[in-house]
Amino acid sequence: MTTMPPPSAWGAADQPGIVENGAEARGPRLRVHGPAKLRGTVSVGGAKNAALPIMAAALLTGESCILRNVPRIDDVETLADVLRALGAIVEFPDPHTAVVTADGITSTCAPADLVRKMRASFLVIGPLLARFGSAATAQPGGCEIGIRPVDVHLEGFRDLGAEMSPDAESYRVKGRRLRGVDLFLDYPSHTGTENLIMAACLAEGQTIIRNACIEPEVVDLVRFLEKMGAHIEGAGSHTITVQGVTALRGCEHEIMPDRLIAGTYLAGAAITRGDVTVEKIIPEHLDAATHKLRKMGARVDATRSTLRCSWETPLRAVDIQAIPYPGFPTDLQAVFGALLTQAQGMSTIVERVFEDRLGYVQELKRMGARIRVDGQKAWVYGPTRLHGASVRALDVRAGAATILTSLVADGETIVEDAHHISRGYEDLVEGLQSLGGDISWVQPIEAI
Ligand code: EPU
Repeated sequence: MTTMPPPSAWGAADQPGIVENGAEARGPRLRVHGPAKLRGTVSVGGAKNAALPIMAAALLTGESCILRNVPRIDDVETLADVLRALGAIVEFPDPHTAVVTADGITSTCAPADLVRKMRASFLVIGPLLARFGSAATAQPGGCEIGIRPVDVHLEGFRDLGAEMSPDAESYRVKGRRLRGVDLFLDYPSHTGTENLIMAACLAEGQTIIRNACIEPEVVDLVRFLEKMGAHIEGAGSHTITVQGVTALRGCEHEIMPDRLIAGTYLAGAAITRGDVTVEKIIPEHLDAATHKLRKMGARVDATRSTLRCSWETPLRAVDIQAIPYPGFPTDLQAVFGALLTQAQGMSTIVERVFEDRLGYVQELKRMGARIRVDGQKAWVYGPTRLHGASVRALDVRAGAATILTSLVADGETIVEDAHHISRGYEDLVEGLQSLGGDISWVQPIEAI
C-alpha cells in the first residue's frame, strides 16, 4: 500500500485545476481496495464548522485570539487566507493551534476568489460590519448541494440598521453603529445565526434572535465570544439574547470535537461489519446518529468521551430524515445512505435541509447500489453486494460516503476529485488505514 501525503502537501502542479501544457491536470484521487473490516480506535480533532466561525469572530478584536484543537483541513487554510487578505495575522505555532491577530486590518472586502471557493467566507461579514461599520464580499453563489441563499443573514443585518447595496456580483453592507433589535429568522440558518450573533455583540443595546439555530457549533462560537467579553444568553435554545458591548478582547479557546467525522467512523464500523471506538468526542452530539445505528441492529456503547460501534447481527432497514439539530444531521445523510445499502430491506431517506444533496447516489450506483431518487427522497434497497468502480467525490460529505461504500465493495475503487474530502476531514485516509482499510492517495494524472 503506497502512503502519500494529502493533497494539501503536494506541489502547485499537483493541485486540481492547474493547467499545464494546455491540458487540465486532474484532481487528487484515492484508491480503495475492498472489502475491509474496520477495527480499532481513532481520535477525532476539532470541528470544521466550529473552527470557521470562531476564526472569523477573532476579527471582532485587535487583540490576539489563541485557538486550540483547530483542524488542519483545506477550509481552515482558505479562511486563514481570507483573514490574511483583510490584513489580519494568522499563525500556526503548532499544527493544531491558530493565533489570529486582527489589529492591522487594511481591508473590509473579502476577496472574491476565496469567497467563491468557500461559502463559509461569508462569516467575516458580521464581525467586519460590527467592528468597522462596513463589509463587502462577492456573492457566495450556489453549490453542489443546493441554492444556498443568504437572505437570513442580510435581512438580519438590515434590521440591525445596516444599509445594503447588493448587485449581481457582490454585497456591500454599511452601518456605522448597529442597534440592537428583535429579530425573527425565517429559517434557523446555521451560519446566518452565527453572523448575526457576531454582529450583535458590538451593537448598541439588546438584540434578541428568535428561531435561532441550536447546533452545537453555534454554542461553541458563543462560548468563545463570551470569553472575549460578549454578553450572550440562550445559546443552544431557539432564542438567543445578546447585550451589545463597546469592545471585545483576545482570549484562548479550544474548538469542540467534530461530531460529523465521529459519525463517519461509526458508520464505517457498521458498514464493514467491524468494531470501532471513537475517542475525544461529545457523545450527546451524535444522539440522532447513534439512535439510527441501534435501530439498524448495531451495538453502540458510550462513555463520557467515546462511542464504540460494533456490528453484531445483519443490519435492518431504517428511515432517515435530515433536519436541523437535534434531528438527524444533513452532513451525515450521505454517509448513512452508503450504510443503508448494506441493510436488509427498503430504507428511505428524506433530505429536508438542502434541495440537492442526493447527487452522491449516482456514484454509489456505479458500485452496484440499488437506490431510487425522486427529488429530495431516496429509496435504498439492501443488502447489495457492491463492486469497485471509478467514482467522484462531489463534495465533502458525498466524498466520505463514496469512501465508506468502496470499503465494502469487492475490488478496487478510484475516487476522483478527492480534494473535496480534504476540505473537511483531516487525516481520514490515515485514520481508515489505522483501522485496517486499504486506502491510499494516488498522484493525479493529466487528462488528455
Ligand atoms: N437558507 C436560506 N436562507 C439563508 C440561509 C439558509 O433559505 O439565508 C436555507 C439553505 O438554502 C438551506 C438551509 O437553509 O436549504 C440550511 O442552510 P444553513 O444556512 O443552515 O446552512 P449553512 O449555514 O450554509 C452550515 C454548515 C453546513 C451544514 C449546514 C446545516 C458551516 C460552515 N456549514 O451551512 O456544513 O450542512 O449548516 O447544518 O457551518 C458541511 O460541513 O459539509 C456543510 C455543508
